[in-house]
Amino acid sequence: MRRVKMVLMARTRLHGLAGFLLLSGMAANLKSAESAESPAEALLRSGRPLVIAHRGYSAVAPENTLPSFQLAKAAAPDLIELDYHHARDGVPVVIHDETLDRTTDAVAKWGGSKIRVDSRTAGELQTLDAGKWFDPRFAGTRLPTLREAVAFIQKDHVTLIERKAGDPTTLVKLLREHGWVNQLVVQSFDWEFLTGLHQLEPKQVLGALGPPSKRDGRRLTDAEKALSVEWIDGAVKTGARIVVWNRQVSGETVVAAHARGLKVWVYTINEPALAEQLLELGVDGIITDNPALMWRTLALRGWKQQAAR
Ligand code: G3P
Ligand code: CA
Repeated sequence: MRRVKMVLMARTRLHGLAGFLLLSGMAANLKSAESAESPAEALLRSGRPLVIAHRGYSAVAPENTLPSFQLAKAAAPDLIELDYHHARDGVPVVIHDETLDRTTDAVAKWGGSKIRVDSRTAGELQTLDAGKWFDPRFAGTRLPTLREAVAFIQKDHVTLIERKAGDPTTLVKLLREHGWVNQLVVQSFDWEFLTGLHQLEPKQVLGALGPPSKRDGRRLTDAEKALSVEWIDGAVKTGARIVVWNRQVSGETVVAAHARGLKVWVYTINEPALAEQLLELGVDGIITDNPALMWRTLALRGWKQQAAR
């Protein structure tokens, strides 16, 4: 009887010890998960301005294609930007325009004009040539799906996804399925989309793109398009951590954005002299078709090409 009691006590102690070890192990894991900073968060803390390759290395390759992303990698940008729309079957496909005319052979192949991306399935879109319009040497290049493109970029770089069309639920589902939440950054001109995405996945780092071309159905004047405290307040409300603006930013608005906890990235900057001016104002990121040229600009200003994260 005594022996049975001792065995039971020993088992209880062992279970207690195992439980303690399990819990402390889990706590340690949680702690390390909490302390491990995601790539997107780390980029927000960069000590130098970021270089962001616009539509891949679009100065030297057909925009938004795998060759463009491959060549961008050779220039080692901090992020590689791409755009997507939904195909007719709901599959997100990487392309900038809402029509296929400019960057594929759809018109030559199918006839007509202004052929919308969402008028064809992803399978049909992937029969198109998305390279030869840029240069015959890129003939045979396909339109990548968003899944293919992000998987390719995320192997060793960070994606800046720009949503041109599509709902937040589909994107969040894709990010979760692949473990990409906060491994990359999402941006959009549609601030309702950003608000919706922020509600679904509050951790995901977002960029609020501006200015919009219209407000309340009316075209904006140049003065209204400039980054302002009003725009900054609106961007904060979406849950965005970055305002991504055109060149119409001033030193005061950069300071105001920083005071509200927002980073300021600017697009699409391909001239070193303009990049110099914007860097002087304190912007945190330059989106460019020519990342190598922007590295040169940063280097001449004394920034080393040290890792941002
Ligand atoms: O990343 C900013 C920039 O891409 C927004 O303009 O027209 O090139 O998509 P757009
Ligand atoms: Ca874009």
